[in-house]
Amino acid sequence: MTAVITIDNLTMSYGSDIIQKDLTFTINRGDIFAIMGGSGCGKSTLLRHLIGLHRPRTGTIYYGTEDFWTLDDQEQSLILRKTGILYQSGALWSSMTLADNLALPLQQYTNLSGSMIQDIIHFKLSLVGLKGCEDYYPSEISGGMRKRAGLARAIVLDPEYLFFDEPSAGLDPVNAKNLDELIVEIRNSLGATVVLVTHELHSIFAIATNAVYLDAEEKTMLAVGSPEEMLNNSTHQNVIDFLTRGEGRRRTSS
Ligand SMILES: Nc1ncnc2c1ncn2[C@@H]1O[C@H](COP(=O)(O)OP(=O)(O)OP(=O)(O)O)[C@@H](O)[C@H]1O
Ligand SMILES: [Mg+2]
Repeated sequence: MTAVITIDNLTMSYGSDIIQKDLTFTINRGDIFAIMGGSGCGKSTLLRHLIGLHRPRTGTIYYGTEDFWTLDDQEQSLILRKTGILYQSGALWSSMTLADNLALPLQQYTNLSGSMIQDIIHFKLSLVGLKGCEDYYPSEISGGMRKRAGLARAIVLDPEYLFFDEPSAGLDPVNAKNLDELIVEIRNSLGATVVLVTHELHSIFAIATNAVYLDAEEKTMLAVGSPEEMLNNSTHQNVIDFLTRGEGRRRTSS
C-alpha cells in the first residue's frame, strides 16, 4: 500500500475556535476514504485543509513526501492540478451548458485544441451516463443528473485525487446508490484515490475502504480503519452509535 496523503498531528481552528485536534492518519493509493462524523464535527473543514483552502493551526499534511503547507504557490498548484472536487452544493455554473461547465477547467489548465476539448467533454459525460446532454443547462436536468454532471466536471482533468463533500446529499436512495456505484467505477477507471466526506451510513458501508471518525464532542478522531473494523472493534460508544444510528453493535452486525 502506498501512502498518498498523510495527515500528521493536525489541529484545525477558525480563529481561537479549535474544531479538531491531534488528527493522524494515512490515505492510501486507490482508497475510497470516508471522513465521517456528525454534523458540525469538522468534516468539510478537514476537506478545506486538504485542498489548500485553509491552513492548519498546527501539524502537517503530506502529499507523498511533500509537506503541502510549506510549498510555494506554484508547487501547491501543481498538486491541486491533480485534484478533482465535488463540493457539498454541487456548484455548476447555472448560466452555462453542461459542455461549457466541463470546458472551463480544460481551457484554464490545458492547451488542448477546441476539438480535443469537445472530445473529452463527450467522453466524460458519457462516463457518468449523460451522453447527449452537452447542451442542457443545469436547471433543465434532475438533481441526480446535476450531481453526475458535477462529477464529470470533477474528473475532466483526470485527477489523481478526488474529493467529494456529501455527494449523495439530497438524492433519493436509488440515485444515491447509483452515485456510489459511479464513484467506484470512476475510481477504478482513473486509478484515482477518493476522499469522501459523508455521514451516509449506506455509502460508508457500501464503498468506503477506509475511514476516520471525527467526534464533535471530543474534538478529535476516535477511530480509523475500515468501517467494518471500526464497527466490530471500536470501544468508543460515540463511534458505535454513529455506525449503528444509536441502535448498538449487536443489532446491526447480526
Ligand atoms: N468559515 C468559518 N468560520 C468560523 N467557523 C466555521 C467556519 N466554517 C465552519 N465553521 C464551524 O466549524 C465547525 C465545523 O464545520 P464544518 O462545516 O467543517 O462541519 P461538517 O462536519 O462539515 O458539518 P456538516 O455535516 O453539517 O456539513 C462548525 O462548528 C462550524 O460552525
Ligand atoms: Mg460539511
